Amino acid sequence: MVGWGYVLRSEQLTEGKAATVRINGQSIVLARVGGQIFALHNECPHLGCPLHRGRLDGFLLQCPCHDWQFDLRTGEFTIAPEIKIPVFPVREENGKILLRTGGELT
Ligand code: FES
Repeated sequence: MVGWGYVLRSEQLTEGKAATVRINGQSIVLARVGGQIFALHNECPHLGCPLHRGRLDGFLLQCPCHDWQFDLRTGEFTIAPEIKIPVFPVREENGKILLRTGGELT
């Protein structure tokens, strides 16, 4: 799928929580922070742990395996920003969360 597609109802993503969806065989983690929604590839670039099991701290998502932290807004690893997780454009309308694949921001 390339383009915008419906992935989740708005009420399924609560503030400060993570959820996962699967698009084109790819797991994506969604998080709502400060009313904004973020979507990132759900695989840590270190050793591949699923990030949705990690801890959210503001705009930071911490990997559950070895505590690497990533900025939800950019996908950057906080210690070494050159290491990035792909981030997907996401929007919300009429109670639905839409995600655009094939057009990753990073
Ligand atoms: S697998 Fe994520 S920090 Fe090691």
